[in-house]
Order: sequence, then C-alpha cells, then structure tokens
Amino acid sequence: MDAQTIELIEAAKKVRENAHSPISHFKVGAAVVGESGKIYSGCNVESVAFTNTTHGETNAIDTAIAAGEKKITKVLIVLDIEEPAYPCALCRQKIAEFSDNAEVIATTLKGKIKSCRILDLYPDPFLSF
Ligand code: THU
Ligand code: ZN
Repeated sequence: MDAQTIELIEAAKKVRENAHSPISHFKVGAAVVGESGKIYSGCNVESVAFTNTTHGETNAIDTAIAAGEKKITKVLIVLDIEEPAYPCALCRQKIAEFSDNAEVIATTLKGKIKSCRILDLYPDPFLSF
C-alpha cells in the first residue's frame, strides 16, 4: 500500500469518529485528494429531517471545493462492516461531477480494501444542463 493511501485511511478513520449518526448509528469517514495533492476529509452528518443528511463523501468533496480545489483525483471511504462497500448513487454522481474519473477506494476498519474508477461504478453521468 502506498504512503498516500495510508494517509487517506488515517484521515478517513479520524474524521469518522466525528460522524453524527443518531438515526442510523452508522459512521462514515471519507477522505479525498484535491488536484493540488492536498487531502480533505468528511463524515456523515444526519439531520432529523433525514433527507437533509450529509454523506461522508460529499462532505469531503464540499470541503475540498470550499478550500479552492476544482477537482478531486481520489476518494477513500472507511466503514465498520465486514466487506468494503462503494459509495451510494448520490455520492457517485458527485464524485463523477468533480473529477476526471477519480479512483474510488473502499476500506473497512478491519483493513479490507478494494478500488475502482468512478466511471466503472457510475458510467455516463449527468454532467451538464
Ligand atoms: N452514508 C454516507 O455517508 N455515504 C454513502 O455513500 C451511503 C450512506 C450515510 C448516510 C447515513 O448517515 C448513513 O450512512 C446510513 O445510510
Ligand atoms: Zn452517499
């Protein structure tokens, strides 16, 4: 595993601790790499109006954009489940929009890992109107 992946895992694990998930009790930690090479992280933040919930991946992307990045190159998520799982469809749309076919890395707290490219997960995204 390369040094950047280790750094992304550490960032995602750390921010996952801040997840606000009183409804699902499911914590999501995410970390992205901006075009500048900097790492940004985000967790899920649930709202009692559940549809207003922020996902970990979109939180991390929004944080990168707010810091001045225009695109991301990688997204990593960490979940406390047995098998690694890729982001939901909403997050896939956002990853596709804010990258040129970013690498998506799914990891578990126990150390399982799998990766792919966003356009393999979410081909032909809606990108303009
Ligand atoms: N969640 C994410 O943060 N990312 C995803 O891609 C899927 C789901 C969050 C939303 C909610 O707080 C919890 O996980 C359970 O769905
Ligand atoms: Zn999502």
